[in-house]
Amino acid sequence: MKTRIAKLMCEEALQTEEGASVIEEAGEIIRRGGLVAFPTETVYGLGADAVNKAAAKKIYEAKGRPSDNPLIVHIAYISQLAEIAGKISPEMKALSDAFWPGPLTMIVNQREGEPLIPRETTGGLSTVAVRFPSHPIANALIRESGRMIAAPSANLSGRPSPTTGQHVIEDLDGKVDMIIDSGSVDIGLESTIIDLTGDVPMVLRPGYITRDELSKVLGAVELDPAVAGIEGSAPPKAPGMRYRHYAPKAHLTIVEKKSDLAESLQERIINEALTAMEKGLKTAIICADENAHLYEGLENVKVYDIGRFSDDDEIAGNLFSVLRKCDEDGMERIFSEGFDTPRLGGAIMNRLLKAAGHDILEI
Ligand code: TXA
Ligand code: MG
Repeated sequence: MKTRIAKLMCEEALQTEEGASVIEEAGEIIRRGGLVAFPTETVYGLGADAVNKAAAKKIYEAKGRPSDNPLIVHIAYISQLAEIAGKISPEMKALSDAFWPGPLTMIVNQREGEPLIPRETTGGLSTVAVRFPSHPIANALIRESGRMIAAPSANLSGRPSPTTGQHVIEDLDGKVDMIIDSGSVDIGLESTIIDLTGDVPMVLRPGYITRDELSKVLGAVELDPAVAGIEGSAPPKAPGMRYRHYAPKAHLTIVEKKSDLAESLQERIINEALTAMEKGLKTAIICADENAHLYEGLENVKVYDIGRFSDDDEIAGNLFSVLRKCDEDGMERIFSEGFDTPRLGGAIMNRLLKAAGHDILEI
């Protein structure tokens, strides 16, 4: 398939004739049942008409995604949530007032009677994931298409979520009808998912909106015990959190300092990296910007500065592209510092731990 790649760099571009025609073209593709990759504020999404069964199937094929892993339905009017759920509960209202449009996905029950969103989109579940993104291009596309748009992250299954148009092109060129390239996204981590179908609201995937922020609006909010790493808990409730997640081609180990031994975290990482390098492995270190100078002058070990520890927005924004870069650079062994920052540390470490297959070296 020939993929049409359209560059639409910023909100102002939407106001131009060319920008408007890109959105018209993309909306038409969605209405015909085709696939359009588009930017959101979190990561790029791979969109199709959420109520078109054949179109939803195409998403799974293009990504190589297991068909029991449900898609998020993207909306651009609150009334669309009511169409899906049958009514807006007080919890939905409170959350949408506080966080929509934005990086929050709500899991809700479908309306009684004939469900609107087909099983092909919900992975066979009776519940649906709904998100109202804030990115102007995402909104323009949903509105122009006149549909709700089902969209997973626009990566091949098993690769990190795409945070630039270039990442999407690498993974999906030739597999989808259109890619709207709008450069780098704002946040860089997928949305927070909150399940509203149980007795107590539960975070199924940590993201930019934290559990504390959700609690301020809802009162008690639980975290899926499997995601919290509690041993012996049931599998994660979000099917996508069960799959072996993205792992870089290299063996990645997170090194954390838990004792008061004299050896510093950085000394240990340097020793581990030099040992790997001497074995002939292409070796890398991932570190916070504040520590980058401590690794200067290491020969044949590549250092990736992921951003400032004091600014976890920056680390969140760079995480997936640094992991992609390690693959591109042919790295075989990676040692990473932990980035358990006060606000986004939970979400960042959730993604990094998966990439490391939970390989942690505690010193
Ligand atoms: O930020 C985001 O959420 C991005 C952008 C494109 O909006 N989308 C995204 O989609 O990350 P995806 O498909 O990569 O992740 C969706 C997650 C999966 O873990 C899936 O299992 C879960 O949402 N999910 C979807 N519907 C669900 C449901 N009814 N119940 C539980 N989990 C659900
Ligand atoms: Mg994904």
